[in-house]
Order: sequence, then C-alpha cells, then structure tokens
Amino acid sequence: MCGIVGYVGEKQCTDILVGALQKLEYRGYDSAGIAVFSNDRIKTIKAKGKIAEGLIERLKSEGPYAATTGIGHTRWATHGEPSDINSHPIGNGRVCIVHNGIIENYRKVKEFLTDKGYGFESETDTETVAKLLDYNYSGNPLDTIIKTIADIEGAYALGIIFREHKEHIYAVRKESPLIVGKGEGEMFIASDVTAIIEHTKEYYLLEQGEIADITKDGVKFYDVHKNPIEKEIQVADWDVSAAEKGGYAHFMLKEITEQPTALKNTIHPRIKDGMPDFTECCLTDDKLRKYHHIYIVGCGSAMHAGIVGKYVIESLARTPVIVDIASEFKYRSPLLTPDDLVVIISQSGETADTKAALKLANDIGADTLAIVNVVGSSIAREAKMVMYTLAGPEISVCSTKAYMVQAAFMYLLAFRVAYARSRIDEATCKQLVAEMLEIPAKVQSCVDNQEQYQKVASRLISADSLLYIGRGLDYALSMEGSLKLKEISYIHSESYAAGELKHGTISLIDEGMPVIAVATQGNLLDKTLSNVKEVKSRGATVVLVCKEDMDISGCGVDYPVYLPVARDLLMPLVAVVPLQLIAYYTAVLKNCDVDHPRNLAKSVTVE
Ligand code: F6R
Repeated sequence: MCGIVGYVGEKQCTDILVGALQKLEYRGYDSAGIAVFSNDRIKTIKAKGKIAEGLIERLKSEGPYAATTGIGHTRWATHGEPSDINSHPIGNGRVCIVHNGIIENYRKVKEFLTDKGYGFESETDTETVAKLLDYNYSGNPLDTIIKTIADIEGAYALGIIFREHKEHIYAVRKESPLIVGKGEGEMFIASDVTAIIEHTKEYYLLEQGEIADITKDGVKFYDVHKNPIEKEIQVADWDVSAAEKGGYAHFMLKEITEQPTALKNTIHPRIKDGMPDFTECCLTDDKLRKYHHIYIVGCGSAMHAGIVGKYVIESLARTPVIVDIASEFKYRSPLLTPDDLVVIISQSGETADTKAALKLANDIGADTLAIVNVVGSSIAREAKMVMYTLAGPEISVCSTKAYMVQAAFMYLLAFRVAYARSRIDEATCKQLVAEMLEIPAKVQSCVDNQEQYQKVASRLISADSLLYIGRGLDYALSMEGSLKLKEISYIHSESYAAGELKHGTISLIDEGMPVIAVATQGNLLDKTLSNVKEVKSRGATVVLVCKEDMDISGCGVDYPVYLPVARDLLMPLVAVVPLQLIAYYTAVLKNCDVDHPRNLAKSVTVE
C-alpha cells in the first residue's frame, strides 16, 4: 500500500524521488506526488493515476524544479477517493507530510483543529496530522513532532519537511514501516529498500516511536522523550538487478523463473548433516515435542502455503495443525494456549491482519515463529522466533516465488517436527530432505516447458468462470491456483474439494465450462479421475495436471499437463508452477496489467 520516499543531498532530487516512487509502484497505489524545496518554498506536485501518466506529465508541464531536498508518496486510497486533492504530500506552506497508515482518531483531531480555526481541503485522515503539526509548530521540529504524535492514534510512517528547515527531513513511525538510507553525502527515507537500492544498500530500520532527523551528512535518532538513540546500520544482501525486470515482460514471469534459485537459497542453509535445522531461530526438538497444537496463520497465498503445511505436518508428525486466515484468527477467540506454537507466514512482514494475529499470539504467551521474506519487517521483529525465506524481493503483486519458499519451509518444519516426535527416524528424515533437494530441478523443468500452459491459457480467456478441483494436497494446491487466476486475469474461479462437487457445485457445470483438475496424489488418482469423468460428462472442458507417469487414459481429458515425478507428498512444490503459468498467460492474453492487478496492493497494511 502507500509508499514513502525522501531525499536530502546535493543532487537534483525531483527525478530521484520520482524514480524511487516508481520502484514502489509494486506496492499498489492510485495517485502519487512529491514536495520539494524550490526557491526556499515548499512546492507540491501531485496527481491521480499512474506515475507515468499523472505525476510525470504534471512535472513536465509545471517543472522543472531545482531542488535538493524533498519527499514523495504513492497513495492507495483509504480515506477519500483517489484524486489530486487527496493525494500526498499534504500540508501548507510551513509544513508538509507524506503518510502511510491510518490515523484512527482523525475525527477528534479534526474537530479540535476546526475549533482552532483550521479549514480542511481533502477527505484524508492525513491532513489532520499535517495541520496538527502546523498548530504545534514551535520553531523546533523535534519538539513539534513529539507533541503531535502524543495526540494521534493509529498506524503511521511519516516523512515531514518544515519550510524553515530546508536541509532536513524528519521521519517517525508507529506500525507502518520506514527505513533511512545512507549514501555518500546524501540520505534517503523509504518504505522499503527497493526504492533506494540503486543509490545505496545501507540503511537504518526506524523502530516503533522513533524519530529521525536527517540531513545530507547523516541522521540522528531520538525516542519520544528526545533521548538520542544509537542504531546499527543494515546492509541489503541483494542488488539492483533483483528488483528489475531483466528482460522479462513482467516481474511475475521473472519471479516464476527464479523459483528454482529461490528454493535452493531458502532450503540449503537450513540443512545440516542432511537434516532440517532450526537452530538459527532456537526452535529446538525439545520445544517441538512439547507443543500441543501448531497454528499456522497468514493471508492469501501465505495462508495457502500454510494449508499445504497442515497436510504435510499432520500426515508425517501426527500433530494437530490449525490453519487460520489472519483476519479471522483474531476475532474468533482461538483456543490458543501458551503450550502452542503459532507459525506466522508473510512475504512482506507488514500485513496488518497478520501482524494483529501475531500480537494476539504473543499476548496469549504462545511461542511465535515468523516465516518472512522481508528482512527487518515488523512481523520479523515482533515474533519470538524468525526464519527468513530467501526469495529476494518479490515485486509483482501476485505472489509466486514467495509462496514457493513458504511452502518449502512448511516441509522442512514438518520433517523436523515428525523427527522430534519420533514419528520418523533419522534415515527417513534424511531421505525426505534428499528428495526435497531434487525439487528445484523439477521446478526448473516445469518452467522450461511453457508452451503447454499457453495453449491452456488460450482456451481459458473466453471463460466467465471456472473451477479448480483436487483432493488432499491437490485440493490445498488448487486453492492457490484459483487465487492466482482470479487475481490477475479477473476471471472468476473457485477451488473445490473434488469429492464435494456432487453436494451442490456440480450444478454449475455446463457446456464448455473449464475445470482444472489437479491429480498428483497416487492414492487419490482414481477418485479424482472419477470426478473428472463426472464433470466431463456434463460438458466441462477439462485441464488435468498430473504426474507424467500416471495413467489417465479413458477419462477424456482435453488438456493434459504432465509434471516431472516426485514423491506425492512433495508434489505441490512442482504442481504449483503450471498453475502459476496458466494464470500468467491467461492474464497476458487478456491484456491485463499482470504485475499491478486492479484494486490490489502488494503490502496490505490496513485491516
Ligand atoms: C496473492 C497474494 C496475496 C498475499 C497476501 C499476504 O498472490 O500475493 O494473497 O499472499 O496479501 O501477503 P504477505 O505474504 O505479504 O503477508
């Protein structure tokens, strides 16, 4: 969702700010703007719509602006429709801000300020903060910020400039993420490293309630009592090419093809002497033996990875696993106890619902393990234990490689829990690990074989609606396949447990309706094939995703998609690739904006 950038240095910053905002486009937004110091005044340029058509065009017609300090923003509308006036930066001639988050008590603040004679132009919650800063302004920015944040409630990352302090940017955060980038004679603020990686790999993580006073020569950090804080610098371990398309038509396609590497990067460091190893986060066998239940919580694709985890952990370790949608978890009063483990899965580490679920689990006293991709993100920092998926930056809104490595983690966890609980012996565990290490090559062979997915996609583009069906792990996987397709191609789809079709949903099948059946589990093959025949005989066009050694003759499949063979238990890691690519090519053929599907944001920082 909203993205923040800022620059203070010696270079002309308009292009730097716009370039950094474009790097944050992946987060999802509907308007963008910048504010720079130009001739000692704060000049704000902002526009509804995409940066290329809105902000850049406006800059061309109004600019250029000579400026070396400024802030910028991409807005994903929450309070007030997407419009020029509701776009950020927001402020007056004296103070100007960019904001990511939601100010919960903005009505109260607005009433207070209205009584003091302030008028409001926008419908945003952000404007109340800008005006409150102005009201509290004492000439000292730090005091002003401290006084102001004492009166606002909610989530915020703020970039702030004051007209009288034109060589400074100030930043403060609570809940929403913000980093301070350190260059040579130049400094940055950004919602994440992607925005500034082409300028610097060095950055500081701003923690809850901390305030940064930034000039071109460095940054000073303070707490809310104005005590100075020392912070350690972080260094991003990936470079600019990881966040660029590198010749691919879309980030999504690039990220799908990166999956074999992402898998290797995530799995290999967690294997010691042929066994899965969780000592890096202090998750010992003793602990794994002790837990009564394992909860797995996440949203969307992350939650789907958790469902694969449930099937695998329960089948190998015979330990009860409860998978929860993060937004439901908090409100359904889960029967969670301090004797349970809660595994929180999140690519971004900033998803508001997932963060709330983590907080609840921490408050109850359960052990919490975060499986997170973004280093230093809120969820990574707030969980008791963290293991990073090492997929590199995922830019496309639609999760692919992040799902892959999250699911891979579920397997490593399942193997270790099963071993710790003596459900499998060391030799079996090592055998499972060895087979897991062969998965990247099988994923690679699916990635290399793209023609068949394009053929399926060309059949799907005319569909209004379709069904994904499967049993067991194939059902778990079909949920992810269905989500991929609907989110980027806008074709309605549902995933269904194949055996449940006859209890209502089969009435939807009529002539030509596409059904994508996933059948990789040998023990369930005959049952799934019976379901395939049932839908076929009612007119469905069937795509069947199965192992290349399976006998599917006689069931009249229209489009067979064959997969390299792995142990049934591991097949979701292989079978997800065709589902991703079928969704991808369907969206491409429908001319959809694959990397930025409508209404969606990469990092969902509001509940
Ligand atoms: C789907 C997708 C979303 C995310 C979900 C959770 O392709 O990307 O469903 O998986 O919003 O996001 P994270 O993992 O960042 O918590």
